[in-house]
Amino acid sequence: MLKVSNLVKQFNGASGKVTAVSDISFEVPEGQFASIIGKSGSGKSTLLSLLGALDKPTSGKIEVGGHDVTKMHDHRLIKYRGKEIGFVFQNYNLVPNLTAIENVMLPMEFAHVSPNERKRRAVELLDQVGITADKQKRKPSRLSGGEQQRVAIARALSNKPSLILADEPTGNLDSQTGKMIFDLLHDLAKSENTTIVAVTHDLSIAGKTDVTFTLKDGSLV
Ligand SMILES: Nc1ncnc2c1ncn2[C@@H]1O[C@H](COP(=O)(O)OP(=O)(O)OP(=O)(O)O)[C@@H](O)[C@H]1O
Ligand SMILES: [Mg+2]
Repeated sequence: MLKVSNLVKQFNGASGKVTAVSDISFEVPEGQFASIIGKSGSGKSTLLSLLGALDKPTSGKIEVGGHDVTKMHDHRLIKYRGKEIGFVFQNYNLVPNLTAIENVMLPMEFAHVSPNERKRRAVELLDQVGITADKQKRKPSRLSGGEQQRVAIARALSNKPSLILADEPTGNLDSQTGKMIFDLLHDLAKSENTTIVAVTHDLSIAGKTDVTFTLKDGSLV
């Protein structure tokens, strides 16, 4: 369960304070798929980076599985991020000089999973997201955008996170591939009971998620 209470994030801009997230409260039950929509500049990415503890809120509370993320100190936060949260980005963010398998194995290495288990789980996840054995040995530059995003999803799942955060995961894909990626995320949310929060511009995709939050000028509407 993800619970956000009275979340506020202000930035000090050149022309004064900018309130990017303004007193937001919502809940997403475990295993549910939530989408966030809203115009450019409405605060979607800022909200997501707060949820992922990549940035600290000005005030308010974020609870994930009963843990108050906003109260964690840095070294605990780094562990928490690595273990409990999977990130998926618009630009895939795969490590270019590692193969698909190695990319999926990397977060497990940071989590001190044994080499054999890392390899076993990476292959299992890549099979699950539909990356064939031949493609698992390729570097990202030799995979299509949709395939790279599949690898990124496998990587996000590697440490069995309780929460997956995706910022425009289909933003660089054609609409049909985008739908396939969303269906994949949806199936995984259900089978692994993972909560997913995904930002999207595609209203037809947002309409298929369990719940949709709309942001306007940093507030939920
Ligand atoms: N580090 C920062 N410093 C100052 N202002 C920021 C910073 N990051 C974001 N903002 C401002 O906060 C507001 C929300 O930005 P955010 O990136 O969250 O929007 P978004 O909804 O993700 O937009 P897009 O759809 O274009 O990605 C914007 O007005 C932006 O200029
Ligand atoms: Mg954004």
